Amino acid sequence: MDTLPAGPVLYDPLDAATLADPYPVLAELRTQSPAVWHDGMECWLITRYADCVRVLREHTLFARDPRRLGSAVPDASLSVQVLDPPHQAPVRSLFMTALHQQDLPALQQRTRQNAASRLAALSGEPSWEAMRELAQPVALAAIADLLGVTPPPVEEWAQVSDTIMRSMDGGLDPDLIEPGRLARQQLSDLVASWFTTTGRPAGLLGHVRARTENAGTEHAAYAMHTARVMFQGGYSTLTAAIGNLLDTLARRPDVLTALRERPGLVPLAIDELVRFDGPVQGTTRLAAADLPIGDVAVRRGQKVTVLFAAANRDPDAFTTPNALILDRSPNRHLGYGWGTHACLGTAMAQRVLTALVETLLYTTHGLRPAGPARRRRTATMRTFAHLPVSLQP
Ligand code: HEM
Repeated sequence: MDTLPAGPVLYDPLDAATLADPYPVLAELRTQSPAVWHDGMECWLITRYADCVRVLREHTLFARDPRRLGSAVPDASLSVQVLDPPHQAPVRSLFMTALHQQDLPALQQRTRQNAASRLAALSGEPSWEAMRELAQPVALAAIADLLGVTPPPVEEWAQVSDTIMRSMDGGLDPDLIEPGRLARQQLSDLVASWFTTTGRPAGLLGHVRARTENAGTEHAAYAMHTARVMFQGGYSTLTAAIGNLLDTLARRPDVLTALRERPGLVPLAIDELVRFDGPVQGTTRLAAADLPIGDVAVRRGQKVTVLFAAANRDPDAFTTPNALILDRSPNRHLGYGWGTHACLGTAMAQRVLTALVETLLYTTHGLRPAGPARRRRTATMRTFAHLPVSLQP
């Protein structure tokens, strides 16, 4: 008897099994077609590495800025993340230059001290919540350090940031939209205060303020909106990345053992950990013309969602993609994006993740799961709501 052709793969990013392990369903989508239409998300899902790179690279054909397709964007949302070239260039280069002027090795060292003292305080505990006790405070301190500002209290800020992150799934759950709007207002007020207080901040924002104070109002506004993305986006992604990394290290004690034997591998291993289970699941662009993706006809104005998590496990781009290979090289994964909207915080994030792994290498013997972990119900960001772990003596 003939085998029936397989039906379309059902993909629900908020489904419990997918939240626990999205990689099997992403692999099925990747096999099914270069572009799969998702009715609920009203977009094409792109899962193959080469197609994902093409969408991210060809920014003239795939727009980030909805205004290019005739949609309105609130002024307050115009940042490096929304603007496309050529309008994006001045603000992106302003922040790139400011980043290059920061002393990232010193930030790494301070992050290591911070992580070490937190781990020392936790070492007697039979079980502790890794997101609250380590990921959130370490990420917040590092971002504030980079920007040169005083961080808000971590519990308060974590709630604001979570509400904003969850509202990114407002298309799937409209109840998240209004709390998200209120939390965004709190974020705006906080960041605006860093641009208006007398006495310029040190760090990255000091550099940005110095170069925008006498610039045109539009340029200054883009800079402030981008500072919001750096602070909130940077914090939430870094927190999620730290959690995912701690989870892998807890469940795979062989990783820290291998790195203790070959500490020179830490930078490669950090990159591999982000490929293997990165926090940013995908990003969206708009087709700026009718165009094909493989044998699929995409129409002008349709949404195209690049699924980084699927591309990062594509066997056409990575040998044994489901294995964690600490010395994988080259490792041109998409965990930090690609092209004109690639992550501005990559170098800083790598420093923070390195500081954390180094701390675990030199100050403790091991990390273990200490109870059932729970993923946060978000489609865009792969992160934990609850991650109980313990330190082994
Ligand atoms: C391990 C941690 C991080 C990961 C995995 C990550 C990942 C990403 C990805 C995938 C994008 C591209 C999104 C797209 O194409 O639409 C992105 C953009 C961005 N990231 Fe990160 N990020 C991390 C940490 C950070 C940090 C710490 C900062 C700030 C200090 C930051 C600032 C930004 C900014 C400003 C953008 C927008 C760039 C643009 O659109 O031109 N990120 N990030």
